[in-house]
Amino acid sequence: MDSSKPTEAVKNAVKTASGKIADALTPDVPGAPGSAPPPVEEPTTPHDPLPPKPEQGAPQTRTPTGAETGAPTIANGQQGAYLTTANGARLRDTDHSLKAGPRGPVLLQDHHLREKITHFDHERIPERVVHARGAGAHGVFTAYGTAEEVTRAGFLKKGRETEVFVRFSTVLGSRGSADTVRDTRGFATKFYTDEGTFDLVGNNMPVFFIQDAIKFPDIIHAGKPHPDREIPQAQSAHDTFWDFVSLHTEAQHHTIWNMSDRGIPRSYRTMEGFGVHTFRLVNEAGETVLAKFHWKPKLGVHSLTWEEAQLLGGMDPDFHRRDLYDAIEAGAYPEWELGIQVFPDTPEETFAGIDLLDPTKIVPEELAEVQPIGKLVLNRTPTNFFAETEQVAFHLGHLPPGIDVTNDPLLQGRLFSYVDTQLTRLGGPNFTQIPINRPHAAVNDMLRDGFHQHAVHAGVAPYRPNSLDGGNPFPAGDAEHAFVDVPVTVAQAPKVRANPASFDDHYSQVRLFWLSMSPVEKEHIIRAYAFELGKCYHQAIKERQLQSLANIDPVLCEQVATGLGLPAPQPTTPLVDVTPSPALSQVGREWPSDGRVVGIVVDPDGDLDGVDEVRRAVFDAGMVPLLIAPHGGMVGDLPVQRTFATGRSVEFDAVLLAGAPAPAPDALPARDAKAGSPAPATVDPRVLLLVEECWRHAKAIGAWGAGVTVLEQAGVAGTPGVVAAGSGAEVLTAVQQLMAAHRVWERFRYLSVRFS
Ligand code: HEM
Repeated sequence: MDSSKPTEAVKNAVKTASGKIADALTPDVPGAPGSAPPPVEEPTTPHDPLPPKPEQGAPQTRTPTGAETGAPTIANGQQGAYLTTANGARLRDTDHSLKAGPRGPVLLQDHHLREKITHFDHERIPERVVHARGAGAHGVFTAYGTAEEVTRAGFLKKGRETEVFVRFSTVLGSRGSADTVRDTRGFATKFYTDEGTFDLVGNNMPVFFIQDAIKFPDIIHAGKPHPDREIPQAQSAHDTFWDFVSLHTEAQHHTIWNMSDRGIPRSYRTMEGFGVHTFRLVNEAGETVLAKFHWKPKLGVHSLTWEEAQLLGGMDPDFHRRDLYDAIEAGAYPEWELGIQVFPDTPEETFAGIDLLDPTKIVPEELAEVQPIGKLVLNRTPTNFFAETEQVAFHLGHLPPGIDVTNDPLLQGRLFSYVDTQLTRLGGPNFTQIPINRPHAAVNDMLRDGFHQHAVHAGVAPYRPNSLDGGNPFPAGDAEHAFVDVPVTVAQAPKVRANPASFDDHYSQVRLFWLSMSPVEKEHIIRAYAFELGKCYHQAIKERQLQSLANIDPVLCEQVATGLGLPAPQPTTPLVDVTPSPALSQVGREWPSDGRVVGIVVDPDGDLDGVDEVRRAVFDAGMVPLLIAPHGGMVGDLPVQRTFATGRSVEFDAVLLAGAPAPAPDALPARDAKAGSPAPATVDPRVLLLVEECWRHAKAIGAWGAGVTVLEQAGVAGTPGVVAAGSGAEVLTAVQQLMAAHRVWERFRYLSVRFS
């Protein structure tokens, strides 16, 4: 957290010979790389490395065994003004190999060449076997103290602040896959508590596909690309996925969450997070409760539309990571409340008839309230992606005293899997010593040696008891905050490969989810099933999945069957009478608009003063304005962030029209018209496309002055969520109100008829 803005000295050092810094066009919106604007000419005056960007953070400088070093975090990176070898010898030249004459062969003695190429050859490590694609951020967790009664965990005591690192991810895709695919999202949080690291390794969905970890390789093999052609990438819309979930019907609950809008989040900032499993909490008195963890986003739970998600896959495959970093850089720090649902720790381990050990089941919030216990704020982006986001290693066994596991068979398998995979991924057993993984609690283990050992362990007796090291390390008790393995009674039972009978209910909660959705959410679910199954080749798989849909709900089944051109089967199990859970729906509430992106279409001949005013007002409202103009550079005194050629509707949460720009010189009216607009000659066709798409995606649209004519030309004037007013300020106020509901749901009015 010690990064600072570039000093004047550093700025001067990178000034060009002409003394000019080319920063006039550097936009005051997030995303520009580097902490100082680059000069046009190559800088040649030696100076220390530039500091990181102000919003960047890095792991604390701790020793491998957790002691604070007091060094600034910038000391994690490179030092000094001069290029060196890995061993610090300064170098004169890194552009030419050492050769026997300018035209001669390269000499084996060129240690710099060999070191540079050898290191490069080994830059890649295996990507995660699942959740390979992700983005991380640093932050702070502040406890409310409301969990003190149920857990002795020190970091949950009132007012306690704990540093955290969070990694969000998709599950199925490779490291380079697109962010906006339909998939579950990982939500893994590392709390660096002073009683040992706590990893809450959750997802944005509260249930999982399978009930027993032994099936995890199977579901992942089914979801990953087919082994022969290695397609499709980062998709569940293929035969093996649907083959698996239709044969293992316990997967139907998680599958409907994936097919719902939760599978295509608008942003990491607008996702809920869930610990999924039930955990056991133990307080100072040794009393226990069962609990489920929930993350509640301050901005609410919001999603993309399917068309937006697909367009973004091509336009901006990094949409979610860019959104996360940009929001932090803009000061719109993402926030969540951590909450717990608390249940009595009874021998049956059930609540309201729901088996708490079954990870395919939720406990509706209406039955057990989510009680807020603290707040998470993400306020620093990583300084180096590989060092932090790629090397971070989460593990469910990283637990502080006061939080313990249960016998959920999925959780039990996970306790084995994470460290096991990290041994390969991170190249040996010492990955807790990598800076991002270093604990902030004193470490005194008896683990020794191994690849990449960074600690210089003193002493001669890494065993217990010993007398040679004076008996150190000593076991701790309650007074010293020792971890508590809760002495749970294990019922006498035969050793079996079997599930409890309660795990056999595969449909009641899927139906509960379906019935809790609003009409527009139901419509999206139908379309998602129809799309995904429509991508399958084999009729048998579609028919088998339709059977599961029939067991969930006849309307759902019929609608999907219609899309597939297949008959809708009758249910094979009675439809269960369930009470919907309104908390599951994303629609119908209002939320803050912090960090939302507002596109402002600028006409160079239009109201530029008005644009400047609105742009500042958008900033002041905690949102990010992006100016969209016919060309890059400046329009008047205003820096342009997107042109009609580089911008697309999917980047914006709302669009404002400050004019009616004529077709720009690079417009191709014939081709652009084909892309979706009738292209009347007076307005650039890409602006019309922007408005049409925003309308189709139910986004707020506003216009003033000449901009109103664009609404008319696009055929959207006077429709719900389209505002025309006399000034930019009035338009912005109305548009911000519309954004509070995330989308203009009224544009989907007809759907309530279909599902009534
Ligand atoms: C409730 C069910 C599960 C949830 C919520 C979950 C969540 C996650 C998350 C969030 C990550 C990404 C961690 C990161 O950002 O580095 C992850 C990775 C992983 N998960 Fe799970 N997972 C679940 C089930 C399982 C099961 C049953 C297994 C295996 C038995 C498993 C094995 C793995 C592995 C091997 C990784 C990669 C870890 C690494 O390379 O560092 N997961 N999981």
